[in-house]
Amino acid sequence: MPSLFDPCTVGALQLANRVVMAPLTRNRSPGAVPGPHAALHYSQRASAGLLITEATAISHQGQGYADVPGLYAPEQLAGWRVVTDAVHAAGGRIVTQLWHVGRVSHTELQPNGGAPVAPSAISAMTKTVLIRDGVASFVETSMPRALALAELPGIVADYVRAATAAVTKAGFDGVEIHGANGYLLDQFLKTGSNQRDDAYGGAVPHRARFMLEVAAAVVAAVGGNRVGIRLSPVTLANDRFDADTQALYEHVLRGLAPLGLAYVHVIEGATGGARELPDRPFNYDAARSAYRSAGGRGAWMVNNGYDRALADHALANGADLVAFGKAYIANPDLVRRLRLNAELNPPDRSTFYGGGAPGYTDYPTLDETAAVKA
Ligand SMILES: Cc1cc2nc3c(=O)[nH]c(=O)nc-3n(C[C@H](O)[C@H](O)[C@H](O)COP(=O)(O)O)c2cc1C
Repeated sequence: MPSLFDPCTVGALQLANRVVMAPLTRNRSPGAVPGPHAALHYSQRASAGLLITEATAISHQGQGYADVPGLYAPEQLAGWRVVTDAVHAAGGRIVTQLWHVGRVSHTELQPNGGAPVAPSAISAMTKTVLIRDGVASFVETSMPRALALAELPGIVADYVRAATAAVTKAGFDGVEIHGANGYLLDQFLKTGSNQRDDAYGGAVPHRARFMLEVAAAVVAAVGGNRVGIRLSPVTLANDRFDADTQALYEHVLRGLAPLGLAYVHVIEGATGGARELPDRPFNYDAARSAYRSAGGRGAWMVNNGYDRALADHALANGADLVAFGKAYIANPDLVRRLRLNAELNPPDRSTFYGGGAPGYTDYPTLDETAAVKA
C-alpha cells in the first residue's frame, strides 16, 4: 500500500509524493494578471507532489469574480511564467485549473457588459464578488442567457487555446479542467441548470456531451498525460442539482476513460462542507470502478475534509493522490507537517479572498515557528 509520502507517476509527471495542493481562488490578480506575490505563494508550497493553481479563466467570457487570473492575454501568460519558473526552481510541479464560470458571473465582469452564458437561462441563485472603487462586495449573479448551439465550438476552442498557451507559453506542467462546483461544464451536466432540448440537453449522454467534447479537445491539443479533470458529483455549490447523479457520473467517467487522462480529481460531498449528504447519496467506489472497468488508468485524486488519518485510509482503499485545500492556505510546509504529524496553522478566513501578502505569503513554516519560540 502506498504512503502519502511515496512518489507517484501521474501521466507525464513524476511527483515526489501524493500530497496535492487543491485549487484555491484568492482574488489577488487585478486585471486578471497573477499578482506580485503569487510566485512566492506557490513556490513556498512547492514540496507538494503537485500544485493546482486557483481557477483561471480561459476567456473574458469565462470570468465570474473580481481579480481572478486568466490565460487569454499575453500579460496573463507572462505573469504565470514567473510563477511556474519559481515553482520549478523550488523543485515543484504545477498545473493550472481551466475555468469557465458559465452563469456564475455578473454583467460587469462580462465583455461589453453582456449577460453571462449558460446551458439554459436559469439563475445560479448565488452571489459573486465585485470590486467597485477598490471596495469588494458580494452581489447577486446576473441572469444568464442560453448559449446557442453555434456558440459551443467557440468555447471548446477557448479551452484548447488556453490549455495550449498554459503549457507552451506559461510553463505549466499540465492543466486541470474545472468540471466541478457548479461552473459551466457542471451546469451542462446537471438537470437543475440544463434544460436544453438539443444534442446537449435531456438524456444523460446529451448532458455529458459538452464536458466530454471539451476534455477530448484539450487532450488532443496537449496530450492526455498532461490533463486532469475535477468533478463534484453532489456538491451544493452554485445551486447545482441533478435527478440521478450516480448514473450521470458513471457515464461521464466511462466517457473519460479512453482519453488517457493523467488524473481524475473528485470532490467527495459538499465542497468545503459535509463529506456525506443524506439526501444526496453517492457511491464513489462504484464511480471509480466504472472508470477503471472502462479502461481508465489515470491517477484517482480525492478531496474534501482530508487530514492525515483520512488520507492514509483513502490510499489504502484505492486512491492515488489526496488534495488539501484550506490546510494548504495556512501551511506552506504541509507535506513536512503531515509526515511529522505536527500541528497545523489554522487558516484565517478573513484573508481568503482579496488583499495582498497577509494571509497569502506570511504563514510560518515549522522552522519559522520554532525560531520565533526559541
Ligand atoms: C478560499 C477557497 C478558494 C477555493 N477556490 C477553488 C477554486 O478556484 N477551484 C476549485 O475547484 N475549488 C476551489 N475551492 C475548493 C477547494 O479546492 C477544496 O475543494 C475545498 O476547500 C475542500 O477541501 P479542504 O477540506 O481540504 O479545504 C476553494 C476553497 C476555498 C476555501
